[in-house]
Amino acid sequence: CGIVGYVGSDRSIEVLMGGLRRLEYRGYDSAGVAVIDGDGDLGSRKRSGKLKVLADDLKRHPLDNGGTGIGHTRWATHGGPTDENAHPHLGDDGKLALIHNGIIENFAALKQELLDAGETFTSETDSEVAALLVGRAYRETGDLTAAMQQVVNRLDGAFTLLAIHRDQPGVVVGARRNSPLIVGLGEGENFLGSDVAAFIEHTRRAVAIGQDQLVTIRPDEVTITDFHGNVAEFEPFEVAWDASASEKGGWPNFMSKEISEEPEAVANTLLGRVTDGLVQLDELAELDQTLRDIDRVTIVACGTAAYAGMVGKYAVEQWARVPVEVELAHEFRYREPVLSERTLVVSISQSGETMDTLMAVKYAAEHGAKTLSICNTQGATIPRESDAVLYTHAGPEVAVASTKAFVAQITALYLFGLHLARLRASLDERAHRDLVTELTDVPAKIDLVLDTSERISELAHWMADTRSVLFLGRHVGYPVALEGALKLKELAYIHAEGFAAGELKHGPIALIEPGQIVFVVVPSPRDERSLHAKVVSNIQEIRARGARVIAIAEQGDAAVLPFADEVIQIPLAGPFFEPMLAVVPLHIFARDLATAKGLDVDQPRNLAKSVTVE
Ligand code: G6P
Repeated sequence: CGIVGYVGSDRSIEVLMGGLRRLEYRGYDSAGVAVIDGDGDLGSRKRSGKLKVLADDLKRHPLDNGGTGIGHTRWATHGGPTDENAHPHLGDDGKLALIHNGIIENFAALKQELLDAGETFTSETDSEVAALLVGRAYRETGDLTAAMQQVVNRLDGAFTLLAIHRDQPGVVVGARRNSPLIVGLGEGENFLGSDVAAFIEHTRRAVAIGQDQLVTIRPDEVTITDFHGNVAEFEPFEVAWDASASEKGGWPNFMSKEISEEPEAVANTLLGRVTDGLVQLDELAELDQTLRDIDRVTIVACGTAAYAGMVGKYAVEQWARVPVEVELAHEFRYREPVLSERTLVVSISQSGETMDTLMAVKYAAEHGAKTLSICNTQGATIPRESDAVLYTHAGPEVAVASTKAFVAQITALYLFGLHLARLRASLDERAHRDLVTELTDVPAKIDLVLDTSERISELAHWMADTRSVLFLGRHVGYPVALEGALKLKELAYIHAEGFAAGELKHGPIALIEPGQIVFVVVPSPRDERSLHAKVVSNIQEIRARGARVIAIAEQGDAAVLPFADEVIQIPLAGPFFEPMLAVVPLHIFARDLATAKGLDVDQPRNLAKSVTVE
């Protein structure tokens, strides 16, 4: 869910709706706002559906504006996406409004307690429990901060809460546990948001609220305490993005803009990290001794980030000669993995907020492992919980399905692999330099791929009625196949699966029937391990059974031409760098097929960009 809070001049509604627009990618099945107006009345409006439904409603029946407000855009957990279940929820007989992101795990017991005390509920959400509790605590204490403090100590689970009370205009109180909350520092006004996007158009000075902290904002004051009321020091940071970075900038949707930014995402992630042809990661200086000593790397991530991790595994292991495993964060966390101080757990997360990944990182740290976060979002929770962070500099990614973050994450993993190899003297300098050259050449090569995207768009339009698409790849092409399939599921709601090409004969080939579309990521014919020949054989096997093959192959790869129905050509690149090129046509294909079906590529059904529940 996306959360925004504001205190300042009488323009809450504009600020809140602007913030929600930028946060809508976090959830978009309902939205709501509450404000305290000039007469000291609390007004609230909430609607199921995308933010536009609420915006239209507010246009038709405006709320009185004021200088204190909160807003929410929801991704449903407890209770379906209805008007009633939308936030804000009210407490203290409608004098208090509260919004919540996360899950209150002990809500059933608390709800029973409130029912016994004679409270009535208007929704099926766990969040309303918090609203009623804070309302009751306010009646007791007469102070919103004190009331919030009392309640958060009774809640289990994950939450960011924001509340306002009619009798305390000019105050918004927030609290967080295992769920993000950032303060934006303005002049004569202050902001709260689930991430900096919420207030980036107003200020770039921000403070990240820590675990189990409370924050009270007034127009000229920000106070942060722990859950027991002890005042905490804080240090503001400057947000590197500007507001225009999170605008569409003339593109029809964010995804198109973000695919076009794939070259930049790689280039910016490399910036300042290569000196005299060698990788130099100053941000990892404190970890250097650990990196020399580790005997294992475990990568944890979810979704697209996990596929970037799989690509990284091949490279890091080969270059640094350290065993690398990749695991979905939610699986890792609950199987009691073997960890020691010689294990480095590398988490990958665009948002830095994915709860499954956060929990894996915490678990790893608690069990003695060292933790490194690869993250795209400053001030996010996962980097704060990690021993070190390597930021990807892809810029804000707004479309729910990840694209440019994927290539930036691979870049960061490659930088990490080369850094590790250097520390452990596992690669000779010449090889290191050659790999750095290859890596720095990637952005220009992605540009070339983007220039030839027309053919793939045509294919996508022809295939608008396709019901199933398979993707095959080998080595680093295998995670690319998985990513191609995931993107098609996410965006176009088409059944799609990615397979390791070598696995085909062990089962998936039974799926091949005449007309089945199969994308094949073909390794370079220059590859020394003869993987190319093996994949070309795989293509023949499926062609013989009637598959329609679309090959993504290196320019000049003559061997594949006779066997493929279509060949999408990508520039020549070393084996490790092909995935960063081959994935681009797959991103474009999924986007254009979804567009051809008339779907919203930025906000696919049922998904949210940062999933802050487990
Ligand atoms: C969600 C998104 C995916 C993303 C995954 C991991 O499921 O829909 O696109 O890959 O989360 O997100 P993260 O922010 O941790 O990279």
